[in-house]
Amino acid sequence: MKLENPLTGTMVSLDDWWMPFTANRQFKAAPRLLARSEGMYYWTPDGRQILDGSAGLWCVNAGHNRKPIVEAVQKQAATMDYAPPFQVGHPVAFEAATAVANIAPAGMRHVFFVNSGSEAADTAIKMALAYHRARGEPSRRIIIGRERGYHGVNIGGTMAGGIPGNRKVWPAMMAGVDHIRATHDPARNAFSRGQPAHGAEFADELDRLVAFHDASNIAAVIVEPVAGSAGVLIPPHGYLDRIAATCRKHGILLVFDEVISGFGRLGTPFAAHYFKITPDIMTCAKAINNAAVPLGAVLASDAVHDAIVGAAPEGAIEFLHGYTYSGHPLACAAVVATQKLYAEEKLFDRAREIAPYWEQALHSLKGARHVIDIRNLGLVGGIELEPRAGAPGRRGLEAHIKCFEAGALVRFTADIVALSPPLVIEKAQIEQLVETIRGVLQKID
Ligand SMILES: Cc1ncc(COP(=O)(O)O)c(C=O)c1O
Repeated sequence: MKLENPLTGTMVSLDDWWMPFTANRQFKAAPRLLARSEGMYYWTPDGRQILDGSAGLWCVNAGHNRKPIVEAVQKQAATMDYAPPFQVGHPVAFEAATAVANIAPAGMRHVFFVNSGSEAADTAIKMALAYHRARGEPSRRIIIGRERGYHGVNIGGTMAGGIPGNRKVWPAMMAGVDHIRATHDPARNAFSRGQPAHGAEFADELDRLVAFHDASNIAAVIVEPVAGSAGVLIPPHGYLDRIAATCRKHGILLVFDEVISGFGRLGTPFAAHYFKITPDIMTCAKAINNAAVPLGAVLASDAVHDAIVGAAPEGAIEFLHGYTYSGHPLACAAVVATQKLYAEEKLFDRAREIAPYWEQALHSLKGARHVIDIRNLGLVGGIELEPRAGAPGRRGLEAHIKCFEAGALVRFTADIVALSPPLVIEKAQIEQLVETIRGVLQKID
């Protein structure tokens, strides 16, 4: 099968791009293609408008093709396309770091640039180990993640992550990880609005692992404050506070993976602000620059930064880590423009203000065909469908395809619809999204 690149008119084959997290054979037999975007919408190559219910992949928080971001990237590309970040710097990367540090929780101003959420997770893990070593506790090497956690697909994140399918092909590549259980508890919490009432005690699992491994061997706990990729799992009231308290008590670093929860998704700059918990390390990516150019970042507390930097001899490289594209000028120009746009348009406040309407609209799907749970927080939504007997995930995939055909892009994780629209979504578009999903659920078995 061939298709046309609308920008160049070239006819291209679908054969050569081995697509990520995609059923390649099925997709290439009946591809779903996007050719253009603006604001809340994509358009297919044949001109069909698709409402973006997932902000791309949880990343285009300001809406698509925003002019100030486009122009900043264009200008930077024409001025200096690339500059190495090792022992050489450039102003736009420093400006971007300051723009992110300015909205970070107090005491977390040290911004280490990477290129993705996956790289951010692996960088955070290396940073945690380097911190303990610098402080004279090199035995602290174990990383504790959580079942159903997602921290990207590099080795550290894969192993600290808790999605069985993502791990099973590569067992034991990273020794020294353990996991606490997920907080999902539909028997007590199904159809909760906002944070569920039950489950703070799941945090006690961490105490059990601390007793089991001994704190002197544990470097860090890494969790998503709101778990997205494994199906939108909202932390129960009090749960994250207990995790944070256990970490503090035992000198274990707390890493928040804010790759999807950062930059206004919950109506605050970061989930750390929403839950009023300051971790030691935070990872972010995606909406940091509205996904215009790949970029991720790791934010470190003063204590983490100062311990690592202070332990190295004068003139030595303190943290032997980094990427060719760390602080890429185009990506950083997009960060500066995006953060300015978020502030000027008060988009984080907007997300907070429209969240009650969002919650109401999503929960109107209670009772719709196949729906067994609905979860929400900020501008995040999860709608769980009953899996088909003997074929988990098939109903979800079919619903995803039918929604696309009906004009809405929604993400499915197995049989869970994960919704995370751009923060600029209007009430009428929320209705459209919900009614599209309702209509599709009526039609599919
Ligand atoms: C919480 C979390 N961490 C890490 C990642 C990985 O990010 P990337 O795909 O940019 O590597 C994701 C991606 O969705 C994510 O949701």
